[in-house]
Amino acid sequence: MRTKLVAGNWKMNGNLASNQALLEAVIPALAPLKRANYAVCVPFPYLAQAQHTLRGSNVALGTQDVCQFDGGAYTGGVSAAMLVDFGCRYVIVGHSERRSAFGESDEVVAFKFAAAIKHRLTPILCVGETLAERESGLTEAVVARQLDAVVKRCSLAALGQCVIAYEPVWAIGTGRTATPQQAQAVHATIRARVAAADRRLADELVILYGGSVKAANAAQLFAMPDVDGGLIGGASLAADEFIAICRAAVGAEEIVRA
Ligand code: PGA
Repeated sequence: MRTKLVAGNWKMNGNLASNQALLEAVIPALAPLKRANYAVCVPFPYLAQAQHTLRGSNVALGTQDVCQFDGGAYTGGVSAAMLVDFGCRYVIVGHSERRSAFGESDEVVAFKFAAAIKHRLTPILCVGETLAERESGLTEAVVARQLDAVVKRCSLAALGQCVIAYEPVWAIGTGRTATPQQAQAVHATIRARVAAADRRLADELVILYGGSVKAANAAQLFAMPDVDGGLIGGASLAADEFIAICRAAVGAEEIVRA
C-alpha cells in the first residue's frame, strides 16, 4: 500500500534565519501527523543547518539536484555521496527548471538518477509537458520519453527505488494548477505504462503531483486515486500553507484507509 508523501521544494530561496524559522514552525506541527511522509528539499549550502534542525523529526531531508559524476575533478559539482554524508534521503532529479534553465537532457537526468540510486538516495524524478506540448496532444508522449530515458539507463526495477513527480510545466509557479482530473489522467497513464511491464512495481510506485499546489487545492488533488502526494514549491516556503497541505495528505490517507 502506498503512503502519501509531501515534499517541499524550496528552490533557490531562503537564508539561515528564514530557514530556521520555517523549520521550527513546521517540525512540531508535523510531529503528530503519523499517517503520511514529509520531506524538505533545501539548497545545498543549508544542508548542515537542515540536517541539524530536522534531527529526530519525521521530516526527511532532500536536495534539488545531484551531480551525475561520483567525485573528483568536477568543479562546482555536489556528489550523491556528499548528500548521503549529510543524511539526505531524497534528491529531486530532472526538475523542469533544471531541464530548461540549465540545459539538462533526458540523458543527463538519467545519469543523475543512476548516481542517486547507486548511493541509496531516493530520486524524485520530475516529468511533465510544456503548455505547447499539451496543446499539441503530446503530454503522454513527453512523459513516456522522460520515463523511458531513465528505464533505459537504469532498468525498470530502478523505478521501485524512486518517487515520480508529475509536474506540468505550465502549472509550475504560475498559480494555474492542473485540475484533479487532469492530474489523475496523467498519473494513471504513468502507472499503466509501468504496469504493462510490472504490475506490482506500478502498484507501489509513489507518484506526486507538482504545480501550484496550495492549501486550498491540496485535498481535491490528493483525493485522486493515483495522486500519492505533492511536490510543493512556493507554498512550501510558508509554514502555515505547507502544514495545511501536509494535513490534507493525512486526511486523504484516512479516507483511503477507512
Ligand atoms: P510550485 O512549484 O508549487 O511553486 O508551482 C512546484 C515545483 O516546481 O516543484
